[in-house]
Amino acid sequence: MNSKDIAPSIQKVYANADDFLPLNGTDYVEFYVGNAKQAAHFYKTTFGFQSLAYKGLETGCRDYASYVLIQDKIRIVLTTPLNSKSPINDHLRKHGDGVKMIALWVDDATKSYNETVSRGAKSFMEPTKEEDEFGFVIRSGVYTYGETVHLFIERKNYNGVFLPGYAAWHSDYKPTSTGLKYIDHMVGNVGWNEMNTWVEYYQKVMGFVNLLSFDDKDISTEYSALMSKVMSNGNGRIKFPINEPAEGKKKSQIEEYIDFYEGQGVQHIAMATDNIIQTVTLLMSRGVEFLTIPSYYYKELQSRVGKIDENIDDLEKLGILVDRDDEGYMLQIFTKPLEDRPTVFFEIIQRKGATSFGKGNFKALFESIESEQEKRGTL
Ligand code: FE2
Repeated sequence: MNSKDIAPSIQKVYANADDFLPLNGTDYVEFYVGNAKQAAHFYKTTFGFQSLAYKGLETGCRDYASYVLIQDKIRIVLTTPLNSKSPINDHLRKHGDGVKMIALWVDDATKSYNETVSRGAKSFMEPTKEEDEFGFVIRSGVYTYGETVHLFIERKNYNGVFLPGYAAWHSDYKPTSTGLKYIDHMVGNVGWNEMNTWVEYYQKVMGFVNLLSFDDKDISTEYSALMSKVMSNGNGRIKFPINEPAEGKKKSQIEEYIDFYEGQGVQHIAMATDNIIQTVTLLMSRGVEFLTIPSYYYKELQSRVGKIDENIDDLEKLGILVDRDDEGYMLQIFTKPLEDRPTVFFEIIQRKGATSFGKGNFKALFESIESEQEKRGTL
């Protein structure tokens, strides 16, 4: 094993970190999509999100429409252009539907901007005050990998439903929740030899630390290979693993993403639940498609992870994966890509003490991804 699998406790990291960029959590994730109205219906129906806020022609926004969905602490914004002149079209033409903004909740968006830009971040949006009858918000933003943006959202002087300019979106269509609670981590795919650039970016510009590293010896099957480093902010609330393709016999799954996204971008968003069996059962009944796991995985599971609360037959029926570290275990499952381009997907995760990311599942998982790549002719 060549990984530097040290698993330091996040609290210890926090004590040592120079936290010039304190982050309270993920504020929202904004996707640019071809048809936000239909995408909103999909995420409500399948994943159990609720309508929260809306911006568009009816609220006086002539250029784009945005639908804000919520489930517990998770907020997703779906934005689509309303005419051919919108720069959002350039993003869509190149990348297809994908994550444009990872918005981070901060106490001071001006300081967050100054601290990161002075350390070399490329500006996306200078600190900007936006207000309505519910108060004001200050937003700023910097670019990260590809055309992806980190926005800093300061909302302590605001008590409206989402952000100034958005109206509350009242909908009679309220599918039940599937038990998704918060965003556990978000993973970025970067290009060949780009890993160190972005690890350094998160260290120097954002003040993050490198929690874990996996190299191509940890993460390779017969064909597909990648390297991964997990970056965490000082208080551990924000975790951004970064993947880079590695040489294998055939095409790396990360390279497939980069080919179809036509650049670097967000690979997956992991959302946490307190009851993964219930959540995944609901998601499947609503048509969410998950990767299927080879049956040998479950034959070896008990001896690999020891005693767990869940029944292994139930896990096998749903295709849920389990991994253990020094602090406990975790359960996880991955959807197939959420759109036609094989790019962004979701992970559903339940942590029972474990703070790691499922290294013990990589082999079975990647075999499953490779069989999908094979079908797509991209292996
Ligand atoms: Fe993940």
